[in-house]
Amino acid sequence: MLWKFEIMRTKVFITGTSSGIGLAIAEKLLLTDAYEVVGIGRRHTINHPRYIPVTADLSDFEATKTILFEADSSFSKIVLINNAGRIGAIQRVGSLSDDDIDDSIQLNLTAVIQLTNYFLSAFGRKDDRQQIILNISSGAGKNPIDAWSVYCATKAGLDMFTRCVREELNVLNQHQIYAFSVAPGVVDTPMQQHIRASTEENFSRLEYFQNLHREGQLLSTDLISHKVHLILEDPKQVGEEVVFSLKDFGIKK
Ligand SMILES: NC(=O)c1ccc[n+]([C@@H]2O[C@H](COP(=O)([O-])OP(=O)(O)OC[C@H]3O[C@@H](n4cnc5c(N)ncnc54)[C@H](OP(=O)(O)O)[C@@H]3O)[C@@H](O)[C@H]2O)c1
Repeated sequence: MLWKFEIMRTKVFITGTSSGIGLAIAEKLLLTDAYEVVGIGRRHTINHPRYIPVTADLSDFEATKTILFEADSSFSKIVLINNAGRIGAIQRVGSLSDDDIDDSIQLNLTAVIQLTNYFLSAFGRKDDRQQIILNISSGAGKNPIDAWSVYCATKAGLDMFTRCVREELNVLNQHQIYAFSVAPGVVDTPMQQHIRASTEENFSRLEYFQNLHREGQLLSTDLISHKVHLILEDPKQVGEEVVFSLKDFGIKK
């Protein structure tokens, strides 16, 4: 008798795969045959047969409109990870530039809302496959931080947007669709290099972030990608939480 084993395939759309957390998540998922990864961003550093690059500047409202969501019937699970983000110029209100405000709000919040809308329009209620929307938020969405006002505001908005999406899914009894907004902690990526390159004059917490780095306290992107992989494998294990910190989930180191 001929046995035919079908792999349960997962298609993952993820923004910002050229560096940091997004790169680590994409590389981790590509280690498993079941995953196909569509990376959406300005640059691509991954070359893999199951990686599909989609080049777009998500700080551009019109460019974000061009992103298409498709997943044929060979996929039993579909995922959107809104990871791309920018902290922007580390400056206090009164010294911000219009362009920097616009780029940060568009990338960190508007693009996430646009992409989630397109994703749920393409799949959503009419598709009974498991769907996961995982937004990469920040503790900065819960706590005000000197000279990060736009970043904090966008991450707070991201958390509330995700809670609203989950509320709508609950109202519609769409329990095959999950929406999470997760704060990764302080992670060793180019974004942290950008923070450490600020000045005492502009940023009162500069020494704190420099010390975290000096003392080796930054989390690794490997740890974050491992935890994200666990959530994608079985989102039920998160329970009812929508907005949470990854430090409270799974292994600590
Ligand atoms: N690192 C931390 O400590 C930390 C803490 C809390 C939350 N986070 C969040 O984690 C996420 C990833 O950050 P990271 O630390 O990994 O930073 P990162 O290394 O700077 O990566 C940011 C990613 O976003 C992409 N991106 C930036 N601007 C873009 C644009 N206009 N259009 C499309 N893609 C764009 C970048 O790619 P290109 O430049 O190639 O376009 C890059 O792939 C962000 O949402 C950040 O807010 C990070």
